[in-house]
Amino acid sequence: MSDKPSASSPIAQLPAPKIILKAVSKRFFTDACEIHSLDKVSFSVAEGEFVCLLGPSGCGKSTLLNLIAGLDFPDTGMVIANGQPVFGPGSDRIVMFQESALFPWLNVIDNVLFGLKLQPHLNQRQRIVLAQSYLQLVGLAKFKHSNIHELSGGMKQRVALARALAPNPEVLLMDEPFASLDALTREKLYDDLQTIWQRHKITILFVTHNVSEAVCLGDRVIIFSPSPGRNQEEFIIDLPRPRDIRSLEVAKYAAEIIQLLRDYMSVNAGQEGEE
Ligand SMILES: Nc1ncnc2c1ncn2[C@@H]1O[C@H](COP(=O)(O)OP(=O)(O)OP(=O)(O)O)[C@@H](O)[C@H]1O
Ligand SMILES: [Mg+2]
Repeated sequence: MSDKPSASSPIAQLPAPKIILKAVSKRFFTDACEIHSLDKVSFSVAEGEFVCLLGPSGCGKSTLLNLIAGLDFPDTGMVIANGQPVFGPGSDRIVMFQESALFPWLNVIDNVLFGLKLQPHLNQRQRIVLAQSYLQLVGLAKFKHSNIHELSGGMKQRVALARALAPNPEVLLMDEPFASLDALTREKLYDDLQTIWQRHKITILFVTHNVSEAVCLGDRVIIFSPSPGRNQEEFIIDLPRPRDIRSLEVAKYAAEIIQLLRDYMSVNAGQEGEE
């Protein structure tokens, strides 16, 4: 019997993959040691899907986003975005880094406008209106003329979010973007991000340590093993949107995932003890 999905099967109805990772491995060589960061990571992200990557510190999550962004390259395996092998950065894939990575010599609105430079169909006035609307969205309209060094860490991260969203990217790669924000701002941004994602049909790959955040945002949560990172397990989060991080349904999925993570940790601790 053929393994190919029939036209009526659920697999056949999925949108085309936007990102494909095929057995991606990556090592780093430092003066002190060799670090096996990623080991044969394979998964794909469908167009318009919101996928969260969850894993312990150092398991290679940022490394993986860098490979998809084309900022670094795998030792073996292949990264495919929009049907093409990734050989470098592209305007179709925007990264929001773990640290805000803003340009300190530009003020707030100019940082957001920078992300709109490669939008030839917009004139300067339209760019300014768009930049202001995204600053409004992240609650920073009043600070548009502020210098970056005058902002708190959380405010910088919100400017970075506005800068990433404003060009309406096809693929948004988000590396723990909300880690430094206070709980209330974070909850507001969960709502906003879900709304923007649904409206603009962006494909999002979102890295986090926070299990409830992953369940609240993801269509799918992919769990990575401790270093070297491998995609070990995945959960389909079948809940209606917009989701509330404090809902019982989110808590139930989160509890299931936390139990799985605990099981991994005890298995790993057992294996280390045997060595
Ligand atoms: N440029 C580099 N040179 C050497 N080692 C690196 C480099 N980048 C990452 N690593 C190593 O690869 C491993 C994975 O790092 P990475 O930053 O991808 O982890 P992470 O899962 O994003 O962790 P965190 O959750 O703490 O951000 C770590 O051991 C790190 O030291
Ligand atoms: Mg990281």
